[in-house]
Amino acid sequence: MKKVLLTLLLVMLFQNNSPANHHFPISRDSKAAVEQGKILYNQNCASCHQVNLSGAKGWNMKLDEDGQRLAPPLNGTAHTWHHPDSMLHNVIKYGYTKTIKDYKGKMLGFGDKLTDQNIDHILAYIKSTWNDEIYQRQMQISTPN
Ligand code: HEC
Repeated sequence: MKKVLLTLLLVMLFQNNSPANHHFPISRDSKAAVEQGKILYNQNCASCHQVNLSGAKGWNMKLDEDGQRLAPPLNGTAHTWHHPDSMLHNVIKYGYTKTIKDYKGKMLGFGDKLTDQNIDHILAYIKSTWNDEIYQRQMQISTPN
């Protein structure tokens, strides 16, 4: 009996720890979330992805001075909207350091600076720049089934 309870407890702990995935998809409906996200975006992301989310100039044509990729647009003109929220959330939280071995690029995680909620507000802001069609399609692929 004790063992069962312990197992149950562990399972519950584990679920609570899993990367906040219960709240996807993230909508852009809350004005407050979008505005908060914009502030956080400008503080943490605009230096590379640009204030207007257009990405670094020439991002898909050249590498930076260290031979690393430049920041892509997040405004819906590149790939970003092809990814579900769970993945975007993780890229912002952990960068590519968790998914790419010996990653030397510039997209490092913000997990030590931003809470999960901060990250979701930034995503709401990013989505507020997308046109309706890609927004709806991305919401669909982000909906857990
Ligand atoms: C130091 C520069 C830099 C900063 C600051 C930065 N990024 Fe990035 N970001 C990049 C680069 C470079 C890539 C492409 C990574 C690669 O291919 O190595 C990227 C990739 C991404 C991607 C994946 C895009 C896609 O289309 O797959 C997302 C999403 C993203 N960044 C969001 C953010 C957010 C949100 C912030 C702020 C919290 C941020 N980034 C801050 C440089 C940066």
